[in-house]
Amino acid sequence: MASYPEVRLRRLRRSAPMRRQMRENRIDPARLVLPVFVTAAAEARPIPALPGHSQLPVGEAAALAKEAEAAGIGGVLLFGLPAAKDEAGTGAWDPEGPVPAALRAVAAAAPGLVRWADVCLCQYTSHGHCGVLAGETVDNDATLPLLSRAAVAYADAGADVVAPSDMMDGRVAALRRSLDGAGHHDVAICSYAAKFASAFYGPFRDAAGSAPAFGDRRSHQLDPANGREAQREIATDVDEGADLVMVKPAGPYLDVLAVARREAGVPVVAYQVSGEYAALHAAADRGWLDLDAAVTETLTGIVRAGADVVITYFAIEAARMAATRG
Ligand code: PBG
Repeated sequence: MASYPEVRLRRLRRSAPMRRQMRENRIDPARLVLPVFVTAAAEARPIPALPGHSQLPVGEAAALAKEAEAAGIGGVLLFGLPAAKDEAGTGAWDPEGPVPAALRAVAAAAPGLVRWADVCLCQYTSHGHCGVLAGETVDNDATLPLLSRAAVAYADAGADVVAPSDMMDGRVAALRRSLDGAGHHDVAICSYAAKFASAFYGPFRDAAGSAPAFGDRRSHQLDPANGREAQREIATDVDEGADLVMVKPAGPYLDVLAVARREAGVPVVAYQVSGEYAALHAAADRGWLDLDAAVTETLTGIVRAGADVVITYFAIEAARMAATRG
């Protein structure tokens, strides 16, 4: 059996060209999706905890999509900030709301992108919960038809992929039935299947104005300790007709991602969430990390673990780095 001194693993790492050629995984910009916050307000508003990102009016969101397309990115994922909120989140299916308007504008400005629309009520409800309430808990079955209306509204406006992030049971089947009933057989569903009740969503809730007014989301999002339950969520969503399944957040759940890639049979999407982005920026700001190197390392790790598609707030920078560094 060959071993040291004949075997020397350092041979393949000797030079930059060697390392570049032997690299097992690299970031392909086509696999990246950029989240974009679209506001009904007239003015853009920077998001302090997401440096470089803002809530954008429709026109500016379309301009950003164009920039993303030019950088080689595969798609954008739209979140909406409506003009008004109510108990049932009715703004989520307003055909003139920020997300449908942005879907139309992005289709015109950047036709080479895949258009993703997040489907959830938390940005649209006055209480910030992901569905309608029965007392202090989210009423699962009463929420399903509302999510379906939102998904159909986004499909009507040109979404290629609708992505339910609410974690209600049965929502993938409900969305599929409603989309097909409305003639949208070709619109794909990406289920946020393994979505954990994470501390890393903090900056997003500021960005989207979607923090719950009371309580938390632990009655529907997964317990971070539970890997097997995550695979069960993924399996039920695939059974219900999910075309793609997501693991979210990404970095702390690479084991879940790797198992999903082996077992799910559909493409697996990873979402590097707002807190993962904010943490890297905060450390880099203090001079404690090299941001570009850390971004490349985290995204490469997510790809190595098995992600087919990666949603990340670093999408544009990562695409540019991939183009210049190979
Ligand atoms: C809405 C939703 C959330 C995220 C995506 N869709 C927040 C939440 O569940 O509270 C988080 C994204 C991020 O942190 O970047 N349900």
